Amino acid sequence: MGEALRVGLAGLGTVGAGVVRLLSDNAEPVAQRAGRPIHVVAASARDRTRDRGVDLDGIAWEDDATALAARDDVDVVAELVGGSDGPALTLARATLAAGKPLITANKAMLAHHGFELARSAEGAGVALRFEAAVAGGVPVIKGLREGMAANRIRHLFGILNGTCNFILSRMEAEGGGFADVLAEAQALGYAEADPGFDIDGVDAAHKLALLAALAFGTRPAFGDVEATGIRHVIAADIAEAAALGYRVRLVGVAEAATGGLFQRVHPHLVPLSHPLAHVAGSTNAVVAEGDQAGRLLFQGAGAGAGPTASAVVADLIDVARGQAGPVFALPADALAEATRADGAERRGRAYVRLTVQDRVGVLAEIAAAMRDAGVSIETLVQRGPATDEGGALVAIVTHDGPERCVAQALERLRGSQSLTDAPMWMPILA
Ligand SMILES: NC(=O)c1ccc[n+]([C@@H]2O[C@H](COP(=O)([O-])OP(=O)(O)OC[C@H]3O[C@@H](n4cnc5c(N)ncnc54)[C@H](OP(=O)(O)O)[C@@H]3O)[C@@H](O)[C@H]2O)c1
Repeated sequence: MGEALRVGLAGLGTVGAGVVRLLSDNAEPVAQRAGRPIHVVAASARDRTRDRGVDLDGIAWEDDATALAARDDVDVVAELVGGSDGPALTLARATLAAGKPLITANKAMLAHHGFELARSAEGAGVALRFEAAVAGGVPVIKGLREGMAANRIRHLFGILNGTCNFILSRMEAEGGGFADVLAEAQALGYAEADPGFDIDGVDAAHKLALLAALAFGTRPAFGDVEATGIRHVIAADIAEAAALGYRVRLVGVAEAATGGLFQRVHPHLVPLSHPLAHVAGSTNAVVAEGDQAGRLLFQGAGAGAGPTASAVVADLIDVARGQAGPVFALPADALAEATRADGAERRGRAYVRLTVQDRVGVLAEIAAAMRDAGVSIETLVQRGPATDEGGALVAIVTHDGPERCVAQALERLRGSQSLTDAPMWMPILA
């Protein structure tokens, strides 16, 4: 067995403490597979005195995480602090500048600075690995980068945020409203006190930007991801979807389109016959379609100490074996700067929900707006009263057509006196 790989660990929260525990619990199989033991030799967090439920004896302490990069006894740094900038980015840059490999679980940092960091890592000839950054314990990064390396990928989509999936699954099971179920998720620890990043689709957009870079050979471009979260999904949407044979899921989609790369996170209606409809609770799932491998589904626990540490340590094992290679499947300098494709040119079926005054002529007005925009209606259901004020709910499923037409129809209706609330639409996953 070779000499130990010496790790500098920044962050001792859920993931960092999980890594310390895993390296202790599974020391033997990890060392066998890595060809050498893996030891944490130095660590950093904000509060040195906090009990983290793991044994930190013999591990040196640094108040300033950046100092880990400069230590002579550290071979590789694991950044498990989080945040797109700040101490995580300072440490990442310092580690690569020191010519040391970097492991990170930080999707926010990579979605914003992934290209710069990939160039630094490849320039220094060291590994930058981020398996834990997307879908927790599910090896989807390796799957795309290595397993699907021989394929052209045209289409990729998935459920990338466990908090949203938990909330939508709970709304479905209990018939509860969004605000109540969010409060319950926060009480159970499934949602942060400040849940904005999750429920507004930002976290899923970070992950989608990384998956798209791997799948399409482009620089990660978080700014090109259209992100709409689940705040505006109401209990009636879930009920209508169920009545029509669908479930509501927050889905990230990336696909090669005319004019560039299309990337969007948006709540979708998913047919019950689709595997993603059965991804419940905090589970994540990614589907990638390769021209040779066909459709592959990666699914499993998207978060939590064990699954995420499993991904971090798998990356450490790669480093212990001396593996480096391109960060995003292609050498960084070969990554294209993708043009953002306009989603309006996409086609598909859509669900539209309108809350309206319960009076004569409203349905005719809606039908006219749809007709004028060129939207063909497959199903229209009106139910009332849908609101405390006695309004009615109109749920429409359209035939296959350009999304642009649905957007135009909603634009026509937006200022209407007949509507009691903003209209809401969701694509239907094919
Ligand atoms: N939790 C998951 O299931 C999961 C899944 C996938 C990816 N991730 C990613 O993994 C990373 C860590 O997440 P987490 O859930 O473990 O977060 P966390 O529980 O909040 O832990 C963050 C850790 O960073 C430390 N820290 C904060 N500022 C620091 C600084 N300036 N210098 C040194 N340490 C500092 C904190 O110290 P104190 O403990 O002293 O406050 C804490 O130990 C994030 O990028 C996250 O997106 C998490």
